[in-house]
Amino acid sequence: MPAKNKSDKDFSIYFQPPSLTDAKKRGKESIEVHYDFAIPEEMQTFGKDKYYLIRTYGCQMNEHDTETMKGLLETMGYQPTEDKRLADVILLNTCAIRENAEDKVFGELGHLKALKAEKPNLVLGVCGCMSQEEAVVNRISQKHPFVDMIFGTHNIHRLPHLLKEAYFSKEMVVEVWSKEGDIVENLPKKREGIKAWVNIMYGCDKFCTYCIVPYTRGKERSRRPEDVLAEVRDLARQGFKEIMLLGQNVNAYGKDFEDISYSFGDLMDDIRKIDIPRVRFTTSHPRDFDDRLIEVLAKRGNLMEHIHLPVQSGSTEVLKKMSRKYSREHYLELVGKIRQAIPDAVLTTDIIVGFPGETDEQFEDTLSLVKQVGYDMAFTFIYSPREGTPAAAMEDNVPESVKKERLQRLNDTMNDLSKASNDKLKGQIVEVLVEGESKNNPEVLAARTRGNKLIHFTGPKEWIGQLMYVKVTESQTWILKGERVEEPVQKVI
Ligand code: SAH
Ligand code: SF4
Ligand code: F3S
Repeated sequence: MPAKNKSDKDFSIYFQPPSLTDAKKRGKESIEVHYDFAIPEEMQTFGKDKYYLIRTYGCQMNEHDTETMKGLLETMGYQPTEDKRLADVILLNTCAIRENAEDKVFGELGHLKALKAEKPNLVLGVCGCMSQEEAVVNRISQKHPFVDMIFGTHNIHRLPHLLKEAYFSKEMVVEVWSKEGDIVENLPKKREGIKAWVNIMYGCDKFCTYCIVPYTRGKERSRRPEDVLAEVRDLARQGFKEIMLLGQNVNAYGKDFEDISYSFGDLMDDIRKIDIPRVRFTTSHPRDFDDRLIEVLAKRGNLMEHIHLPVQSGSTEVLKKMSRKYSREHYLELVGKIRQAIPDAVLTTDIIVGFPGETDEQFEDTLSLVKQVGYDMAFTFIYSPREGTPAAAMEDNVPESVKKERLQRLNDTMNDLSKASNDKLKGQIVEVLVEGESKNNPEVLAARTRGNKLIHFTGPKEWIGQLMYVKVTESQTWILKGERVEEPVQKVI
């Protein structure tokens, strides 16, 4: 694809704005898995004596993409820096989920303009989900022409080539693929610490009416089980203590395989047998959460008792307008099944308030559902219209002040529930993985329970990376406090 001239403002030949009709037609072409990725030898010294910095916005999927880009850059000889002034390459790995996510990136671009003027050789790139939006690319080309390159979520593996092109081109290098059916294996990844992310699938075909992700991340496609299992085994060998399996909708894993019948439950059952201490996953869509998965999760072992199960709304009518494809009753039934099989499962969720036309009654339905489920924690958002999505065209008569008030009421309710669920742990002995020092006090260790609750206690740094038992002595809304105990004689949570 040719580079575009900065002054040429028409990028429409590369982009289509999000279109539900067009996107739903996709999926006809089969998924290609590429195993032959390699960075040409002559490019492996390209970054010698140069530094890179990547700013990451958005979800864990993006964080993990950043690890891949770090892996690519370091294979090219680049070194990491946190200092903008030292950096030869700065990449903004962006998120498009809500307007405020995009605002942050445009704000940062504003700051970087001055730096770019001082350091003309700095290569400034924008990648991630925002790059997949035509309107964003047009805006960058018009208002931020000092950006050197833009690439999307489907061609991260092209970073070495695009960088080279950007160095030698006076024009903005734009390469955003609408081809979205491929999986590229064997990309280098720079992982740090004791926890590792593992993609099990890419994209999303759910098309919730408010959401931009199916457009920015392309169609739903699963990595082959043998590739996922090999990666997990390798991470276990390297000494990682916890893996987080990633997908926008992990419960749909395997539905796209034409040659084998292999579900997310099957994958979890196979991963359960690998010697890695802790396994988590995100995100579960209630619609595809089947009995097989519940049965496997109930085996516990290295499968943690935490399920993030976004509900979005407690009103069946709103869920219908959101195209979530389940009702309040179906969701509650699923929660009932999970609780029956795993009584101590920690349940967390995502909720949107102020969806177009949401009535007071419908919001009350959300509040009542939240209380009925008794979530341990929730991420709560005010609906943000995303251009091109069906909900953006729906009439919205709910004033912003009402939306804010609803969010506040929901958050107050959620805080009470979080506190209550933490209170229940007081006096209990819990299994924790020590993750590091506490952010505010290096004398204190920060650990997580199997249910993913944060717990602080004192101990030597050598405990970092170890599994141990802690007695909960204090409970707050967001955090537990405790002290180490020897192997418990009573039941562990
Ligand atoms: N794939 C995940 C969610 C990814 S986005 C899932 O389906 O559960 C994370 C959360 O952002 C969503 O669960 C939703 O609550 C929120 N979200 C997505 N689009 C939004 C929008 N347009 N406005 C406000 N919140 C949104
Ligand atoms: Fe967005 Fe819905 Fe897909 Fe989640 S399942 S990424 S909310 S479209
Ligand atoms: Fe944001 Fe893209 Fe993740 S829009 S939430 S970074 S998939």
